[in-house]
Amino acid sequence: MRSLSTLLIALTLASPLAAQQPKLAATPPMGWNSWNWFAGKVTDKDIRQAADLLVSSGMKDAGYVYVNIDDTWEGKRDANGVLHTNDKFPDMKALADYVHSKGLKLGIYSSPGPFTCAHFEGSYGHEQQDADLYASWGIDYLKYDLCGFREIQNKEAPDDIPKQYAMMRAAYEKMHQAILKTGRPMIYSLCQYGWDEVWQWGPEVGANLWRTTGDINPSFDRMAYIGREQAGLGKYAAPGHWNDPDMLEVGNGKLNLDENRTHMGMWAMLASPLLAGNNLSELTPEVTAVLTNKEVIAIDQDPLGKQAERIYAEGPVEIWARPLADGSRAIDVINFGESETSLRGVHLHLKEAGVGSGWKAHDIWGNKDLGPIKDDYHFTLKRHSSLLLHLTK
Ligand code: GLA
Repeated sequence: MRSLSTLLIALTLASPLAAQQPKLAATPPMGWNSWNWFAGKVTDKDIRQAADLLVSSGMKDAGYVYVNIDDTWEGKRDANGVLHTNDKFPDMKALADYVHSKGLKLGIYSSPGPFTCAHFEGSYGHEQQDADLYASWGIDYLKYDLCGFREIQNKEAPDDIPKQYAMMRAAYEKMHQAILKTGRPMIYSLCQYGWDEVWQWGPEVGANLWRTTGDINPSFDRMAYIGREQAGLGKYAAPGHWNDPDMLEVGNGKLNLDENRTHMGMWAMLASPLLAGNNLSELTPEVTAVLTNKEVIAIDQDPLGKQAERIYAEGPVEIWARPLADGSRAIDVINFGESETSLRGVHLHLKEAGVGSGWKAHDIWGNKDLGPIKDDYHFTLKRHSSLLLHLTK
């Protein structure tokens, strides 16, 4: 008879490799991306500096591990079709080694089309070659942005939207297969602005996240518009694949403290990927505190992976709620309006949020315990501010 240990070894060897590896994007990916701040100006030096600053600022410890190079790193293909980097990125393998040496991961960007949004070289017709190249560099994450593929769609299927959509799915599936063939785990991020209800088919083409809207910018109105657009999408998010309302603008533009908190809190409620997009070399203590708030990140990263839904809306005031793995709940009351609102009369809608009587509330941004909470809890919310509550039995 085989001993228990032999049996265990045999079982371990027999189990597929995938079962032994942690699930990719089991919680929403966290990191930093170059686009929102550097756009087309990003260089190798900026990426190294971002990696250094993620570590020194404490953001890495808070969970931000992906350092993602967005568009404009691409050079030209040689006679064999091998893509080269441009002058801004002299040695991608060395850059990946540097980022990895800090305990971080490196992400990159391409398009299923012949060119990217910023008109750099895309992967069209070179999918496997590019995926192999990324794997040889040690890339951990790919954002794959439709852009140039629209030209192919329009050429091959003019005015035939269903055919164009079928082509789009096939193009995303093609890169998914190419990545799988490399054998290197890479987070696969779809960027096609939510077309054709991507949340319905994203998981089938291997997506770990998919953009649900057009681009964010560092204004409260745009952030609020995108955030509110996520209503109804909660059921499509789950461990392994997430709705992506675009990268964070926390710390960018003229967003004030209330606005940065509302943005961060809402993205956490939405179980969004948290990809900071600010200039890390100008991090203020205030912005660092918003980005690294442990309780907010714990909501985003909750292992249950249940994205918040809107449970109440009246004019500019909305209440969003989500259940958490330990049976507790998070509620976010947001004032999207331009003036202070007294919430007398607006109930918290605790029952709809699954909160029973006698539950205790913790005000996360205010950092205070409120004790047992009642549905008619009275408070005021300044313009663009929010009350983020963690509720426990
Ligand atoms: C699109 C994407 C952005 C960014 C740019 C880069 O607009 O939506 O997030 O990647 O392309 O060119």
